[in-house]
Amino acid sequence: MVIKTATFVCSNTRIDKLPAPEMPEYAFIGRSNVGKSSLINALTGHRHLAKTSQTPGKTQLINHFLINDAWYLVDLPGYGFAKASKGSRAAWEKFIRRYLLQRENLQCVFVLIDSRHDPQRIDLDFCYWLGEKGVPFMLVFTKADKQSQAKSDGTIAKFHRALQQWFEEVPQYFLTSAETQLGCEQLLDVIDDINR
Ligand code: GTP
Ligand code: MG
Repeated sequence: MVIKTATFVCSNTRIDKLPAPEMPEYAFIGRSNVGKSSLINALTGHRHLAKTSQTPGKTQLINHFLINDAWYLVDLPGYGFAKASKGSRAAWEKFIRRYLLQRENLQCVFVLIDSRHDPQRIDLDFCYWLGEKGVPFMLVFTKADKQSQAKSDGTIAKFHRALQQWFEEVPQYFLTSAETQLGCEQLLDVIDDINR
């Protein structure tokens, strides 16, 4: 798929203020600093569309980007941010979970996972929760440029084994890099297929 236009639409914490659910939508979620905003920029070819930072916790709101005037990419705040207060963590849970469960035009959630690290409880629990609630999701392993293919393959295999205990069919996955654009074309192709 060719990205012709990518524009920021709005940032929200309130579900009732989101754009009307008239076009298909794809959300990026995962631990703080995993590379959600960077991958959105890599996919769209716009370096500064979504705000990125070396400091975890940069994205705090639900951010909508309109792509090709036909569908939305949604950048969400990260989970598992160690420095977040209990109160802000609870608020995250509430509004993100509500968004994930109630957004009727949400076609697929991309759960981003750092390809350098062994499966973390918080990621597995989140995948399990999505599965239990019947929210369609796929796995996106990020930052592949930071280590060897063998190391990334190892992480993916460990994740696969962990998820096999819960899911009859382990969700589709991608290995990506926002630096080299590895996997970006495949991700856009999958979105294109769902949009059809
Ligand atoms: P929050 O909004 O805080 O939850 O973070 P995020 O998941 O949106 O991460 P963000 O895209 O801001 O990236 C975090 C850091 O990782 C930044 O310093 C990025 O430059 C870096 N980064 C993201 N993706 C990649 C990648 O594929 N390769 C490399 N080498 N660095 C990356
Ligand atoms: Mg972000």
